[in-house]
Amino acid sequence: MVDNLINIGLLGCGTVGSGVVKIIKRNREEIERKAGSRLNIKKVLVRSLDKERPLELEGAELVTEVDKILEDPEIKIVIELIGDVERAREYMEKALRKGKFVVTANKDLMAQHGREIFKLARDMGVNVYYEASVGGGIPLIRPLKHSLAANRIMRIMGIINGTTNYILTQMTLQGRGYQEALEEAQEKGFAEQDPSSDVLGKDAAYKLAILASIAFDSTINMDSIYTEGITEVKIRDIRYAEELGYKLKLLAIGDRMEEGLALRVHPTLVPDKHPLAAVNDEFNAVFFEGDAVGEIMLYGRGAGEMPTGSAVVADVIEAVRSINHQVENGVMEVEFSQKPIMPLSRIHSKFYIRLKAIDEPGVFASLANIFSEEKVSLDMIIQKRRIEEMAEIVLVTHDIREENFFRSIERIKEIPSIREISQLLRVV
Ligand code: NAP
Ligand code: HSE
Repeated sequence: MVDNLINIGLLGCGTVGSGVVKIIKRNREEIERKAGSRLNIKKVLVRSLDKERPLELEGAELVTEVDKILEDPEIKIVIELIGDVERAREYMEKALRKGKFVVTANKDLMAQHGREIFKLARDMGVNVYYEASVGGGIPLIRPLKHSLAANRIMRIMGIINGTTNYILTQMTLQGRGYQEALEEAQEKGFAEQDPSSDVLGKDAAYKLAILASIAFDSTINMDSIYTEGITEVKIRDIRYAEELGYKLKLLAIGDRMEEGLALRVHPTLVPDKHPLAAVNDEFNAVFFEGDAVGEIMLYGRGAGEMPTGSAVVADVIEAVRSINHQVENGVMEVEFSQKPIMPLSRIHSKFYIRLKAIDEPGVFASLANIFSEEKVSLDMIIQKRRIEEMAEIVLVTHDIREENFFRSIERIKEIPSIREISQLLRVV
């Protein structure tokens, strides 16, 4: 039996906001029993009151002025789902200053300004919950903060952007074009308001920053993450990768090494037998490697209305429990130190190279010579096909220090018969 009522203010009622309203309506009884309170979405902030909304708001008042929510003393929890950084930050900070708990799915904001927001929450004796900001419906933040807390996490590796994974899957399995697949991802509500954040790898980098800060107990500056998106990926590379036994995926990888943290987001060739190769469409999957637990993989839908709504509502339940039981909030993120960052040039990677050369004797010998002098050993060399007078060559290296690899590429560019380095991709 639950009798006290918690009023909620919802900022934004688009893809994720609609999911939140639907889930609370659908599972109200169970959710309220778990939270220990009745829940009422009292007010909903939107941009336009005229927009058609095929959604039953159960008596919630639609407003366009945020202060109607932030200045309402009856509202105890604010759910921020408008996207954007500066405006969302302003609203969130005001909500915290008013003593309200905040739930958000905004990774851009949490990755860039999390530290200040957590400090403010702690000073105000409230908390900020952000499970939905990474991996949509997959629990990642709470497992890292709680279930895996006994471990020293050594590695994070995963697919954490649904839009790019949807695009790459459609290009690989359905032969769709990049633009068509992107438009579909937008229609399905996976993409950001500005989808360049997805396709340029920025969304995945924000999420990696959030996961890495918790996993490695460190504040992370966004400029310490090497970020490369999928805009330069060609269907030809997807096909060649398949022939070589790989799938192309946008991976986010974080390593804790002796000299510091190495953080990167880039398109990657993943061997067909690797579990990440089978993660398709908007699904995400993340490996954590802990010193005690070993490897753990969490898998599920990384974007979309209901999966993301699921994570937001779980955070609301957590916030209500905290309010009801006056739990000490312990905003652990405030205590993170800043660990050193390893430049990518010093880590080891394996590379796929596609290049064009004049089809004449001696090309392979000059390539082999440079690679051997730079201590780059080759796993595979394939002459793919002749295009006019040019031969297309695909090479895959063994693991090599990145600075040696890029030095050899600069030297290869100087070989007169090499006409173009068409593609460079990393390989797991
Ligand atoms: P969305 O579909 O574009 O919805 C945004 C909502 O916010 C709309 O209701 C819009 O009002 C409202 N809004 C935007 N700017 C506003 C402003 N200045 N004042 C008042 N209302 C404003 O966005 P979404 O996909 O739900 O994403 C919301 C957040 O969740 C973002 O931070 C996103 O990164 C994150 N997220 C999204 C997903 C996903 O799968 N979509 C998954 C995880 C996290 P109108 O309805 O009037 O236009
Ligand atoms: N645009 C994001 C994605 C939404 O595609 O993964 C989920 O965070």
